[in-house]
Amino acid sequence: MISKNIEKALQQQIAVEGYSSAVYLSMASWMDAEGFEGSAAFFYKQSDEERMHMLKILHFINDNDGHAIVPAIEAPPKSFKDFHSCFKSVLDQEQKVTASIHELVNTALKERDHAAHNFLQWYVSEQMEEEKQVKSILNKLKIIGKDGSGLYLLDRELGEMAANAAGGEDATA
Ligand code: FEO
Repeated sequence: MISKNIEKALQQQIAVEGYSSAVYLSMASWMDAEGFEGSAAFFYKQSDEERMHMLKILHFINDNDGHAIVPAIEAPPKSFKDFHSCFKSVLDQEQKVTASIHELVNTALKERDHAAHNFLQWYVSEQMEEEKQVKSILNKLKIIGKDGSGLYLLDRELGEMAANAAGGEDATA
């Protein structure tokens, strides 16, 4: 059984993960419209992953005698200045998510809720991985600058990453 404070804090995290999913879906659609097919596949995949993060919390609340409520999700930006600024926004978003996960861990410790604390460790690791991934993409973008062929190759690499993560299935489908 989870405490009311933990349930409330996890409930807020459902909205945070839901917003991430919506932002990445919007980025996927924008990349698609701009002709960056690989990046579109990458963001469709990221959006699916964020939805999975949201669902994991929803199930955790319900599996521990709570009642998860599906929240209204704020509308994401419709378009992005350019490829580079899109990835800068991803890092900002992930850093916000990391901060809210760490805040949740603090709440679990304060409430002495070991089950929630244990559950949240997966999110702590996941955030480290996600921040590392986007920082590596931003580093590549720094090298590429405004070079079109570099951008083309990075777009292709992002598409391959999405395909590998999806076990070879078409992530844009
Ligand atoms: Fe689930 Fe990357 O936030």
